[in-house]
Amino acid sequence: MKKSYFFQCINVSCGATYPASQKLYRCPSCSDLLDLDYAFSDLDPEQLKVTFRERRTSNLPLDVSGVWRFREMLPFEPQDLKYAVTLGEGNTPLIEAPRSAEYAGIKHLTIKHLGWNPSGSFKDYGMTSAICQARKLGSKVVACASTGNTSASMAAYCARTDLKPVVFIPEGQIAYGKLSQTLDYGALTIQLEGDFDVAMGLVEDLSSETDLYLMNSINPFRLEGQKTVMYGLFEQLDWKIPDRIVVPGGNLGNSSSYGKALIEMKELGFIDKVPRITIIQAAGASPLYKTLVSSSSELVPVEDAFTLASAIKIGHPISWKKAVRALNFTDGWCDVVTEQEIADSKAVLGRDGIGCEPASATTVAGLKKLIETAERIPDVTIDPDEDIVAILTGHQLKDPDYTVNYHLNNLYEEATYNTVLISKSGKLESTFANQPMKVAADKKEILRILGL
Ligand code: F0G
Repeated sequence: MKKSYFFQCINVSCGATYPASQKLYRCPSCSDLLDLDYAFSDLDPEQLKVTFRERRTSNLPLDVSGVWRFREMLPFEPQDLKYAVTLGEGNTPLIEAPRSAEYAGIKHLTIKHLGWNPSGSFKDYGMTSAICQARKLGSKVVACASTGNTSASMAAYCARTDLKPVVFIPEGQIAYGKLSQTLDYGALTIQLEGDFDVAMGLVEDLSSETDLYLMNSINPFRLEGQKTVMYGLFEQLDWKIPDRIVVPGGNLGNSSSYGKALIEMKELGFIDKVPRITIIQAAGASPLYKTLVSSSSELVPVEDAFTLASAIKIGHPISWKKAVRALNFTDGWCDVVTEQEIADSKAVLGRDGIGCEPASATTVAGLKKLIETAERIPDVTIDPDEDIVAILTGHQLKDPDYTVNYHLNNLYEEATYNTVLISKSGKLESTFANQPMKVAADKKEILRILGL
């Protein structure tokens, strides 16, 4: 098999192409987003499926990786692999979630938990490929804006290289689990006044004006790595393709990469059937939803986006056009869920023994809402018998404050601190609270409580 690859502007009326060896994030001609596109010759999908599977029996680090195992589908040549850094990312499990399925009103639900990655989120899939490109380009300093997971992942991979990581995070708006990771991994951590959208604009400017190499998902090398989530998923399902894939939406890189993977897999003959992508956003941070329902050809941004699911607190998602393309190609849809729906769904997933961070729980919340109310949207259908995979994106321990506050019946949409809590409003119901009990250290008392 032979392949070549190049940057391709996603704007069809522009259509410009550029060598993949250039340091580009946007089309120099029209400023639109870029894809990495491929020209393959002699690609045999059935043979590649065998190769991907055989690598699972190998102990070579790049074969063990659930990203590099699919390296034929990535924009690298064998001689580039010396730049690859792996932490054993990918190969995340599929788990049945019967309680969550019942809660959502569907027959059964399969979870693919991307939080079980080395840095605890799906970002590792794309970071390992972008880091490889950064090293190939000879970059010295890499940078990202982040709601916490991109920065944690970037910092972890950089710690294993000579690359210097600089992360820009919105001050006071990222979960402590994530902040603690960038600090431990040694990244230069810049806390900005302002939200993710401000940080993103700033770091994009800085990287076009300086040698900083940008590691956000606007960088097409990130999305190529994230594509392998779909290859890994379908391999786990023995290539029996599900009806629907549900994924949270923030900056919309992840859903975009799945759409691109599905377009390529269909074109190249890996799959005949295409699952419908369903993107779920938090109601207070739902620019894609607002764009779709208003049938606007331009993004309808959300100023001062708000959600306690801080990972997806984003009002100007960079990859929105690619996400729309993913929805169009797969006959998918985007929906929104409330803070209450996210909080309860997260607790229900917990009862399945499946922890996740709040952003990931939008998936179950979104499914429940679609089942209950699909008829409100013309052309959107969902069937409780469908074969559905929900993508959980981040580990439960990224944001334990949220979880504990929920179970202590102390979760508020707004809580203002000045070292100590000074005001709170918008109380959420802790519908499935599991409060700890305070009990005297007394055997009799404990036996009485246990009913023994
Ligand atoms: N879930 C989690 C846990 C995330 O960290 C993110 C994004 C998303 C979902 C949304 O994915 O942006 O590809 O649509 N986190 C980014 C970050 C923005 O900086 O860590 P998306």
